[in-house]
This record gives sequence, C-alpha cells and structure tokens, in this order.
Amino acid sequence: MVALAEELFSLKGRVAFVSGASSGLGLHLAGTLARAGASVVLAARRVDKVSAAAAELTAQGHRAHAVALDVTRSETIPAAFDAAEEACGKPVDVLLNNAGIVYASKFLQQEEAEVSRILDTNFKGAFLVAQETARRMAKIKQGSIINVASTAGLRAAGMMSSYAAAKAGLIHLTKIMALELAGRGIRVNVICPGNFETDMHDLFVSSGMDKTVLERIPQRRFGKPQDLDGVTLLLASDAGRYMTGAVIAVDGGQSLSWM
Ligand SMILES: NC(=O)c1ccc[n+]([C@@H]2O[C@H](COP(=O)([O-])OP(=O)(O)OC[C@H]3O[C@@H](n4cnc5c(N)ncnc54)[C@H](OP(=O)(O)O)[C@@H]3O)[C@@H](O)[C@H]2O)c1
Repeated sequence: MVALAEELFSLKGRVAFVSGASSGLGLHLAGTLARAGASVVLAARRVDKVSAAAAELTAQGHRAHAVALDVTRSETIPAAFDAAEEACGKPVDVLLNNAGIVYASKFLQQEEAEVSRILDTNFKGAFLVAQETARRMAKIKQGSIINVASTAGLRAAGMMSSYAAAKAGLIHLTKIMALELAGRGIRVNVICPGNFETDMHDLFVSSGMDKTVLERIPQRRFGKPQDLDGVTLLLASDAGRYMTGAVIAVDGGQSLSWM
C-alpha cells in the first residue's frame, strides 16, 4: 500500500516551477515538490532568497534551481521559463502559480495605485504566468497547473476588496482554463488557502484581525505551510489525473463558518 501511494504521488522525472518561492507557502511547497522527486525551479523577485533555497535543497540531494521573476513585468516571464528549461533540460510540466501580495484597506479608501498593484500581481501576473506555462505544456501535451487563490475569493470579507476580487477572478479563470486546456492534456485546479502563518499572515496579525478570525475557524488554529503538502502533491501528480477545474479550500473549515 505504501509503495502504491509513493508511486501514485511521485513526481520523479517532472519539472515543477514555483512562482513566489522566496518565502512562505511557495518556499515550503517547492521543498515538498522536490522531496516528491521533481526538479524544482524556484522563482521570485528576491533572487538571493530563491538562490539560497535552491542551494539548500541541492545540498539535501534534491534537484533545484533558482530564476528571477517579476510577474508584473511581463518580459521576465518567458525569460524565467527559458532559464528553467535550460537548467532542467526539459520543459516545465507542473506549475504552482503562487506569487501574490496582500493589501487590506476599506473600499472607500483604496488608492488607484494600490488597486493596480494588487490586480497586476494577483490576477494579471498569475494569468500571464499560467498562459506562458500552458503554451509550453501544450507542445508536450501534458501538464498540471495549480493556481493559488484564497478563501477571500470564495466569500466576502471586509477590507479586502481588490485582493479578494483578484482571487475570485483567478478562481473563475481556473475553470475557463480547465475547459479550454483539457483537450491539450493540461489539468488546471485552484487551491484556496484560509489563513496561513507566513509573512503575509504577519501583516494580518499586526492589524489585530487575527483573534477575531481565529474564533471563526472550526479547527481553532491557523494553517501551517505543511497543511498544503497533501493537496499540492495530489494536484501535481498522477494521483489527481481525473481532476481538473476543481476549487479546493484548505482552511480548517473557515469558509463554512459565520459564527
Ligand atoms: N498566508 C495566507 O494566509 C494566505 C491565504 C490565502 C492565500 N494566500 C496566497 O498564497 C500565496 C503565497 O502567500 P504567502 O502567504 O506565502 O505570502 P509571502 O510569504 O508574502 O510570499 C509571497 C511570495 O510571492 C512573491 N511575489 C510577490 N510579488 C511578486 C512578483 N511581482 N513577482 C514574483 N513574485 C512575487 C514573493 O517573492 P518576492 O517578494 O521575492 O518577489 C513571495 O515569494 C499568495 O498568492 C497569497 O495570496 C496566502
């Protein structure tokens, strides 16, 4: 049984590209994908951070490379995938489309520049990274794209208008991509994390919103990056081969609760 599970979830021979791998969920999940056997490409603006993480994974016996990527600068996207293919010797067949930024402000107070920054990163940036990946995956007729949205994109939460709308857009985009790309051998799914303990979460703690939110989580704790290991491996590997267009909340039950 263990052998069957290992085989089913194995990523041996795969190339996994992780956007936003310099910290938080992306950094942790790049390690998870590498430990499952994939060659991993860690991408972000802070090249020093992704280079250090790739070096650490390599020292542990895994295959890992770092590339520069700013999802708001479209010219860096094909360049990052070219560098990934060159480093790994083959095209990317798993994308964890994870880069994102958060911003909390009341709707009436949001400045145009902030709205643009949030949408350019969380929606347009994710769109362009997914599109570049899908064009390359279409040539090899296989691939798994995992978008990282948020439970904020599933239900309304105050102070989050542009962030939540961008994530809701990413969830809808996932379904359209899944429809259009199934015939090309590409699966597209979306993970919606609840509140996870990362740098992004630290901002949330400093605003004092964390205590109220904790009371609304039925499991009464925030998520830890490793709580996303199972769903990521499921969607990346053949274990999830009949899944496409799925929207998966990983939130300790938070999106069920209005208490
Ligand atoms: N933590 C949570 O509670 C939570 C909940 C729901 C959803 N999420 C989503 O999960 C994803 C990861 O968040 P996190 O909590 O791990 O936050 P984090 O620790 O702040 O990590 C965000 C990552 O995105 C990268 N990034 C930001 N802007 C970028 C850009 N323009 N180009 C390329 N990379 C960029 C950052 O790298 P650089 O700064 O080095 O570029 C960093 O690696 C995000 O999409 C977030 O919306 C998080």
